[in-house]
Amino acid sequence: MLNGVDIVFGLAWGDEGKGKVVSELNRKKTYDYVCRWNGGPNAGHTVYIDGKKYKTHQIPSGIFQNTNCIIGPGCVVDPIKLLQEITYLENAGFNPHKYLKIHPNTSMITPQNVEYDKMYLQKELGTTGCGIAPCYAERAMRKSALAKNFLPAMELGHMVWDCNFKKRSWILCEGAQGMWLDINYGNPPWTTSSETLPYAACSLGFSHNDIADVYGVAKMYDTRSGNDPRFPESLLECPERGMIGATGNEYGTTTGRKRKVDFLDLDALLRAIEVSGTTKLIFNKGDVLEKCGIFKLYYEKELIPFKSYDEMKDFITGIIANGTMLGDQVFFSESPEHLPMEVFI
Ligand code: IMP
Ligand code: MG
Repeated sequence: MLNGVDIVFGLAWGDEGKGKVVSELNRKKTYDYVCRWNGGPNAGHTVYIDGKKYKTHQIPSGIFQNTNCIIGPGCVVDPIKLLQEITYLENAGFNPHKYLKIHPNTSMITPQNVEYDKMYLQKELGTTGCGIAPCYAERAMRKSALAKNFLPAMELGHMVWDCNFKKRSWILCEGAQGMWLDINYGNPPWTTSSETLPYAACSLGFSHNDIADVYGVAKMYDTRSGNDPRFPESLLECPERGMIGATGNEYGTTTGRKRKVDFLDLDALLRAIEVSGTTKLIFNKGDVLEKCGIFKLYYEKELIPFKSYDEMKDFITGIIANGTMLGDQVFFSESPEHLPMEVFI
């Protein structure tokens, strides 16, 4: 009954530039729905529309193209921030009251959830302090407030979704966070609380058989905003990594924190491609390495330097052609706004 589902997924620790991929795809391919299946206000998606920069945290970025947007039952929604985001979008000329729907069983984040996160988790774990973990805990206890009860009380009853996708729809799903922040595949407690992998998108109401393409989004270097023994604070003292971070403007969209930068971990990326079912691979921020003139990556746990951006790209393409089923479906982007044309063919 559906035409198909495409999924945009972050292959690293979040902040790979998924927002750009979603808005480019939706502009070129036109979907009937753009959906979120995980996370909440901890995410921050930056998109550029006609050269203007916009940010969303909870609302799918399809809202910028007047596409129906769905927030799924595996998401958590902060109603106070939702109202702020609705106002922000309306003031910018978009129409969330018409296009945004929230699954009736989506859990709502309470001020107590936020308080608990800020008091007990933010310092120790480096969470975003948005109340994510406490809300998912209450969801697991089946005592969280649900959208179906909460939204009507906020005069947002028209946003409760009827849980039907129109027949013959094309659906685009927008991942939040990424592979190594996933609660199953990551390294708890240094993860988020949701399932970030494409399979979890099926919670929106379709089968894995409906999935057409998984657009895996990677970056030419790795970053981590938040605590993680894999990314020690000492990384911040490295001049080369620091230069990449400053040039790439690597500060958290949600928290404003300086992200820790490391060279691309190709071993981790190969694993992420495999288990996520990525069918098209997009590398972002090649322009940042070009500007810095620093070309390095880890492969088989060794740090390998390259003379040029082209040499680094050739190496990556070769390893991926050998080690995955992706073939030539590997694309490099050097623009904050656009993807190479070949992605859409
Ligand atoms: P929480 O999701 O706020 O509980 O944070 C858990 C961990 O995930 C922290 O290390 C955060 O920095 C990280 N995190 C959560 N959301 C994002 C995101 O959208 N981008 C990057 N890191 C994130
Ligand atoms: Mg982000």
